[in-house]
Amino acid sequence: MPTKLSVNINKIATLRNSRGGNNPDVLQVAIDCQKFGADGITVHPRPDERHIRYSDVHAIKPIITTEFNIEGNPLEDKFVDLVLAVKPAQVTLVPDDPGQLTSNHGWDTINKQDYLRTIISTFKKAGIRVSIFVDPVENLVAAAADTGTDRIELYTEAYAKTFHKNPEEAIADYVKAAVVAQQKNLGLNAGHDLDLKNLAYFAKNIPGLLEVSIGHALISDALYYGLENTIQLYKRQLHISSNK
Ligand code: PXP
Repeated sequence: MPTKLSVNINKIATLRNSRGGNNPDVLQVAIDCQKFGADGITVHPRPDERHIRYSDVHAIKPIITTEFNIEGNPLEDKFVDLVLAVKPAQVTLVPDDPGQLTSNHGWDTINKQDYLRTIISTFKKAGIRVSIFVDPVENLVAAAADTGTDRIELYTEAYAKTFHKNPEEAIADYVKAAVVAQQKNLGLNAGHDLDLKNLAYFAKNIPGLLEVSIGHALISDALYYGLENTIQLYKRQLHISSNK
């Protein structure tokens, strides 16, 4: 099975918010991404709602025909309440600070073990699959398994930053982390800074990669190629890598 592509539409909301109206229409973009081949829609509401708004998340849920993934920091009760009310297929827990430009680290699954176990069980009891954002470090992945999470999402910024210099070196820690995830029966997702240049190599070399979520590069590429072509280009990278 090729890895699934979940399209993060936060950037569409950022563009809309910059003018105050409803252009581009986030709801229509979510509908169209699915029509154009996306296997899922990802949103990352932040406390100040500078990208996706809480009201967008409620509005998007009924039009989802694929998989809805909500990312965010569960330290905010507002976020936990939103996820429990909307009941997406998956929640991805990310330890980002409220004003942070974008996520920049994974969970400390060792020191935050008890906290994670409690919050993960809250979501799982509601029938929501849980994934937690983790750096590609073997003992952090091993400890993630003890939190009860269904999946981990490997934070791929470090891979993306060094891929052009030496792909083998860039991916080495991710392969080791993926092997530990498999041994521990954890599902595996990945995301951050994946793009048309680095995606196929990543998907081809990471065993058991179930899903990638991609926002910034995909929406930027859509300015040149259009949204439909771009989604198909990204899907092709994942299909190339599945014909191993
Ligand atoms: N995964 C997580 C946890 C994120 O916070 C983000 C960015 O919001 C992404 C994936 C997608 O990263 P990018 O926009 O660089 O594709």
